[in-house]
Amino acid sequence: MAQKILLTGGAGFIGSHTYVELAKAGYEVVILDNFSNAQRDVTDRLEVISGQDVTCVEGDVLNAPLLDKLFADHKFDAVIHFAALKAVGESTEKPLDYLTTNISGLYTLLGAMKKAEVFSLVFSSSATVYGQPDQLPVPETAPRSFNNPYGYTKLVCEQSLEQVAASDDRWAFGILRYFNPAGAHDTALIGEDPNDIPNNLMPYIAKVATGELEKLSVFGDDYDTPDGTGVRDYIHVMDLARGHVQSVDALLRTGNSHTVNLGTGTGYSVIDMLRAYEKAAGKDLPHQMAPRRAGDVASVYGDPDLAREVLGFQAERDLDDMCQSSWNWVSRRKNT
Ligand code: UFG
Repeated sequence: MAQKILLTGGAGFIGSHTYVELAKAGYEVVILDNFSNAQRDVTDRLEVISGQDVTCVEGDVLNAPLLDKLFADHKFDAVIHFAALKAVGESTEKPLDYLTTNISGLYTLLGAMKKAEVFSLVFSSSATVYGQPDQLPVPETAPRSFNNPYGYTKLVCEQSLEQVAASDDRWAFGILRYFNPAGAHDTALIGEDPNDIPNNLMPYIAKVATGELEKLSVFGDDYDTPDGTGVRDYIHVMDLARGHVQSVDALLRTGNSHTVNLGTGTGYSVIDMLRAYEKAAGKDLPHQMAPRRAGDVASVYGDPDLAREVLGFQAERDLDDMCQSSWNWVSRRKNT
């Protein structure tokens, strides 16, 4: 019988792509999403891509009775927990929202899992837990810190999972530290679709390419990097999605926890990203140099070796694929 996964936040950007990969791998999946940052037609699109009915429950991870009912209605083997808030800037304005959704949300979920005796969980963490890394590429052993309430919530969640895991060896946690997700599904039916003006580079460039935003501001051109602009580890969302399948496979197979980076190990600058997107979209994209953004660091890219050793995970898709698939998605989305 197929193993069954609860996917919280499964209608969101990374969650929806992970749904596709889980379905392809033969898992049965139930989505829980409150649609606070997801489009309602995502489930229809997932049905087209996966060729199967999508089970989606609308609701919040903070709703303990709803979680209890879900765990009573389904016999889950594992949970992949995406549902959380993720905008760094917003987290400094609304820290309580972030503390509640991200930390209390995890605690509520763990409580329901324990009651239902489901002990395997994949958790969406972030390279933000490295703060300002002084070693590149960053290994998982680098010291952890935080620069904003969002980063604080990811750090507290990681530490909480470590405490819980130490208390009872039935628990198995896959903590995945994402670098910078980019790209979209090859069908161009799902992708990143922020409701507001994006804070992140890739969705911002995408909206300049579609003409929804006038021009990109490049935040700082005087960093100690090859072209002076910030360098990051962009990873295709379909690679990230596959990483989740490999993580849940490993938890269910071994019962052992792991904490790994999901990145490529390669850094690209803001200008590299802009040029690659111009190539994909077949046009010049307006941009201007602007002052550094507060809190930014020059370079962050991850050491991918441990994910390869522990999960057999390796990113396969390149920068051109990230930009081309993103462009296919946003140009199609705008016209439908
Ligand atoms: N940038 C611009 N112009 C923009 C937006 C971004 O030049 O309009 C630059 C930034 O200065 C930075 C790079 O593009 O050099 C990437 O910025 P993003 O905001 O896309 O991503 P960050 O690396 O700052 O942050 C992301 C996530 C965080 C996560 C972190 C982990 O947004 O949630 O990666 O490394 F914590």
